[in-house]
Amino acid sequence: MKETQQIKSMFDKIVLRYDFLNRLLSFGQDILWRKKMATEAVKDEAQIVLDLAVGTGDSAKALFKKGVKVIGVDISFEMLKIAKGKIQKNFNTLSASAYELPFKDKTFDAVTCAFGIRNMHETEIALKEINRVIRDNGKIIILEFSLPKGFLRKPYLLYLKKIVPFVASFFSSRSAYEYLGSSIEGFYKPEEFSELLQSCGFKNIKIHSLSFGTVYLYVGEKI
Ligand SMILES: C[S@@+](CC[C@H](N)C(=O)[O-])C[C@H]1O[C@@H](n2cnc3c(N)ncnc32)[C@H](O)[C@@H]1O
Repeated sequence: MKETQQIKSMFDKIVLRYDFLNRLLSFGQDILWRKKMATEAVKDEAQIVLDLAVGTGDSAKALFKKGVKVIGVDISFEMLKIAKGKIQKNFNTLSASAYELPFKDKTFDAVTCAFGIRNMHETEIALKEINRVIRDNGKIIILEFSLPKGFLRKPYLLYLKKIVPFVASFFSSRSAYEYLGSSIEGFYKPEEFSELLQSCGFKNIKIHSLSFGTVYLYVGEKI
């Protein structure tokens, strides 16, 4: 798929300053968001978790700290190289696409995906593929950006569309951080995404709004 190839080269290109900009642009909040995701993932005593779109491994690291075995999958080799260097044990990485996961049905107790699903344009295919590799009653936990409601929406859009690309341009690719803003704007609203999760085979969906609705944590169970 052409779009997937473009996304892969974009992430390959921004890898060096990726972690630094995450910390800077989220004012350090990104660490707490991933920690919450990891806490949800291990609530039901999960032993083996697939961290899809693992990137540079910060999401996997949060899971690793909870004592689970983590498999990290990503399409970007450059991101995976950094991830491998961060976690020494109980962690394996694999380069693969969310649309075709190289695992048998019902392999994992849980699948996590932090800030990855927005980049998967065939969202339904990705969610059904995630569903396939989760064991019965296993969990899906997704962390994704959104736009706050009410009076914060306008200033946040200004931050996202003007300030973020401007700041990022000093350290990394401006266009990648312009894409960040437009992809957040184009992504499903939380209620819509929750419906999509249900239609892709998940039940008991819980939605947690974090940091004034700029980030959402979605938790569901495989039917
Ligand atoms: C914003 S990063 C998130 C990385 C990490 N989870 C974190 O919390 O920082 C998104 C990642 O999704 C990966 N990605 C995008 N499309 C993908 C796909 N179709 N299959 C697997 N990974 C994909 C990118 O290569 C990138 O590393």
